[in-house]
Formats: sequence, structure tokens, C-alpha cells
Amino acid sequence: MVKSKYITSLLAKAKQNLKTIVLPEGEDERVLEAAHIINDEGAAKIIILGDVAQMKAHFAAKGWNTDGIEFIKPEESPRLSEYTELLYELRKEKGLSKEDAAKLALNYNYFGTLMIKSGHADGMVSGANHSTADTVRPALQIIKAAKKGGSASSFFIMLSNDTPYIFSDCGIIINPTDKELADIALNAAQTAILFGIEPNVAMLSFSTKGSGKGDEVEKVKRAAQIALEALQTDEYKNLGIKLDGELQADAALDSVVAAKKAPNSNVAGKARVLVFPTLEAGNISYKLLQRLGGCEAYGPILQGLNAPVNDLSRGCFAEDIVGAIAITCLQATK
Ligand SMILES: CC(C)(COP(=O)(O)OP(=O)(O)OC[C@H]1O[C@@H](n2cnc3c(N)ncnc32)[C@H](O)[C@@H]1OP(=O)(O)O)[C@@H](O)C(=O)NCCC(=O)NCCS
Repeated sequence: MVKSKYITSLLAKAKQNLKTIVLPEGEDERVLEAAHIINDEGAAKIIILGDVAQMKAHFAAKGWNTDGIEFIKPEESPRLSEYTELLYELRKEKGLSKEDAAKLALNYNYFGTLMIKSGHADGMVSGANHSTADTVRPALQIIKAAKKGGSASSFFIMLSNDTPYIFSDCGIIINPTDKELADIALNAAQTAILFGIEPNVAMLSFSTKGSGKGDEVEKVKRAAQIALEALQTDEYKNLGIKLDGELQADAALDSVVAAKKAPNSNVAGKARVLVFPTLEAGNISYKLLQRLGGCEAYGPILQGLNAPVNDLSRGCFAEDIVGAIAITCLQATK
């Protein structure tokens, strides 16, 4: 049973356009429970990687239905050699040998990512037992950023009293350049549109419109400028995206503060997409809001990739995994 109203609404959308999601961590009971909930809801087709006999025994012990779920042990998959060959072809110019490709394809995160690349799955959710780097690296190497030269980054959906906000980047790019920060902002704006959130983007800083000084402020100003120029192009100009920076968080969110600090801004006071100047700022902010501010946090969800691959926190609960799967399904419909 899913408690979050927001995730229930995403599951309803997922049901309308069934996607196939691979879960590479079949050894984890939280992952199995999430797979069962999704399967029971009929919200996606689920593939779980792991020891098939053990996974099925767990389902049987719990009295859960396995119909509709595909269980795969990568070591025994008839597609292993096909995936190994694909990995070798994709990475040989980067120095990957055939022997190393054979070993790497057996890594479940690589196997799952290769399933997506081959069209056998639409998205992947992993990270209940893996670091962000181990989950995300195969996606960056194999699925790749959607735009040539563009950056993939990540976002969290933060629910404050059921009102959703996008926070980005809280998971991938440690210290973005101005260009990378502009990419984060543009990707986050498109993410907001996809999730039905108003694309009012605030480029956050410790300064509002020149109130503070320093290289960090200048970087955010340049990033805002780059993003604003991109918004004039055909790709973005009709999407209704509003973007402003640099803004402090209070000016971004509070209309009274906004009227004092940034009276001419079209975003201040009504931002729904918060773009952080560094990973440190974003990651610390989301965790504080989750632990002290009573917000629900879903993510990190990757954006800017050719297909959705999403990471979990190792402290996640089964319901968080259900949320990540629902979000991944929605991203896969793009
Ligand atoms: C995401 C992360 C793991 C990538 O680092 P990495 O694996 O060392 O990446 P590399 O620099 O070796 O790059 C691997 C490939 O990914 C690509 N890549 C790396 N970051 C990328 C990005 N943001 N967007 C697109 N491609 C990217 C590289 O171009 C490279 O491609 P290639 O091998 O085809 O040339 C790294 O940025 C990281 O550790 N970020 C912080 C993660 C974290 O701790 N988050 C906090 C917890 S949520």
C-alpha cells in the first residue's frame, strides 16, 4: 500500500503507458517488496536481476504473485554474450578489452544498463546497495547524455505539504562550471514540465541581485545568462520556462522577501525549481529539509540522459523504491 498521494498519482499515470523497468538488486528484500507492489498495482513490467530460485522463494514465502515479473540471473542469461559484445563495441575506443567487457557485463548494474541500450528495458532503478557512482557510471558510459556535449545531472522531487518542488543538482556534478550549471537549470526546467510543476527556475546563491560579491556569485550570474540565452532558441522558447538568478532561497520562495530584494524578477517569490550552485549546497539542503523540515524527498533522479536510470539512497524504504520506479516510468514516456 503506497501512502504518498503524489506517488499514487504518478502510479496512476504509469499504468496508462506501461514501461519495462529493470531492478538489478534482487538480493535486497526492499527491492523485492517494491517489485511486488508495482506488479500488484499493474504500474510497470518488472525485470529483477539476481538468484532466480532465491527471489522466487522469497515471493512464495510472502504469498506474492510472480505472474508478470521476469526474473533473470545474468550469469545464465542467453543474452549475456550479446550484451558483452555490445559493451565491447561501445567502449573499445576507450580501451576496454574483450576480457574486461565480459567481466563488466556480469556486473548487474552494467547488465541492466545494457538491457536498456538494447531496447529490452525502458529504465533502471538501482542503488539500494550500491554507491551513486557505481549506479550512475554505467549509464553515463553507455546510455550517455541526450545532448552532445551536454551534462547529465540529477534532481529530487521535494514534497512540502504535497506541493512538489524540483531541487537540482543534488547528486551528480560536484562543482559545476557556469555552462554545466546552465545545463542543470535547463534540464531541471524540462523535468518540471514533465512532472506538471511550474517551470519557474531560481538559480540560487548567497546573493540576490548583487547583494553579495565573489567568484561563486559571478558563476551563478554567468550560468543564468547562458541559460536565458538558450531559452530564446527554438528548442525552449515556447515551453513557458521562467528563469532568474542570482537569488537567495528566501527571495526565490517568499513573495514578501522577493518584493524587497528582487522586485523586478518574474521568478522571485514563486520559484518551483531550485538550482543549487554546487552539489554540496544541493545535497545538504535536501537532506536538511527531509530530516528537519518534514519534506518527502524522491531522488536522486537523473536527467539529461537518453533513457532513465535512477539511483536510490542506501537507507531507502520499499516505498521509496516504488516512488523511484513510478518516476522512472514517467521519464521513459518522454
Ligand atoms: C557521477 C560520477 C560518479 C561520474 O564520475 P566518474 O565515474 O568518475 O566519471 P568519469 O569522469 O570517469 O566519466 C565516466 C564517463 O561518464 C561521462 N560523464 C561523467 N560525468 C558526466 C555528466 N555529468 N554528464 C554526462 N556525462 C558524464 C564522462 O564523460 C565519461 O564518459 P566516457 O568514459 O565515455 O568518456 C561523479 O561525478 C561523482 O562521483 N559524482 C558525485 C556522486 C555523489 O557522491 N553524489 C552524492 C550522493 S547522492
